[in-house]
Order: sequence, then C-alpha cells, then structure tokens
Amino acid sequence: MLKSILFVCLGNICRSPLAEGVAKAYIEEKALAIDAESAGTGSWHIGEAPCEGSQKIAKLHGIDISHHRARQITKEDLKKFDLLVALDSKNLADLRSMGASNVVKLGSFGYDGADVPDPYFFDGFEGFEKVYEMIETCTRNLIDEYSR
Ligand code: 4NP
Repeated sequence: MLKSILFVCLGNICRSPLAEGVAKAYIEEKALAIDAESAGTGSWHIGEAPCEGSQKIAKLHGIDISHHRARQITKEDLKKFDLLVALDSKNLADLRSMGASNVVKLGSFGYDGADVPDPYFFDGFEGFEKVYEMIETCTRNLIDEYSR
C-alpha cells in the first residue's frame, strides 16, 4: 500500500503544487492515509507561493494551495517517498538521472502518457482549466490504482 507521493515539476510553483492540492483533497475524500507533497527540479522559485493561475484554478475547484511554498527536490526525497510522480518527460528524465527508480509520469494515468503542459509559459489564465482537468483525472486514477 502506497504511503507517500511526491509530485515533481520544474519550478514547483504551477503544476506540482496543483497536483499536491488535488491529491490531498482526494485522499481526504477517500479517507486514505497517504502523504502527498510536491517539489521542483529547479531552484529558481524556492520559497515562493504558487503562481496566480494555479491558485485561482484550485480555488475555483474548492482547493486552497496559497500556503504552499516552493522547494527543490533533494536526494533524500528519492528514498523518503514511495512514489515520485513527474509532470512531464523532462521532469521524468531529470529524476531518473538523479537515480530515481520509483518514478512514474502523471499523464500515463488517463492521458496516454502526455506531458502536463507548463502553464508558466501561458499567456494569461486561458489553459489552466485544461491543465487542471488533466491533473485531476490522472491524479485520481493514480491514487485509485495504488490504493487498491
Ligand atoms: P512549474 O512551472 O514547473 O509548473 O512550476 C514553471 C515555473 C518556473 C519556470 C518554469 C516552469 N521557470 O523557468 O522559472
């Protein structure tokens, strides 16, 4: 039985904090005992709150991610978490090159292995709903699959 999940994107300010928030809400809804956290492979945004679009789309779906602060993944995380979940192919490759073996790609759980597009480069709020839908569908499927 899965006890802990770490969602990993590049900056830990747009996609993975959203996945963490969606996962925590679903874990609570299902009364499961899984610790869900998130981190970034990069260091640029350490200590920052999630990007405005991610906070807004989460809030529209009843999830508050405003308290999250970005952090960078460490070697210890690779051992500490049962499962690492990469948001795109680059995140997956970066985790593997750090030596992670317990890593999957979020898009493989309902979107044919697609990358979750990076909203950091979106122009405005358009696109966040699509990213949210992808993250929600795949995160719920992943948790269902690992908590059977
Ligand atoms: P995230 O988005 O990986 O979904 O948090 C990004 C945040 C920052 C940068 C890239 C992506 N950046 O290049 O600074």
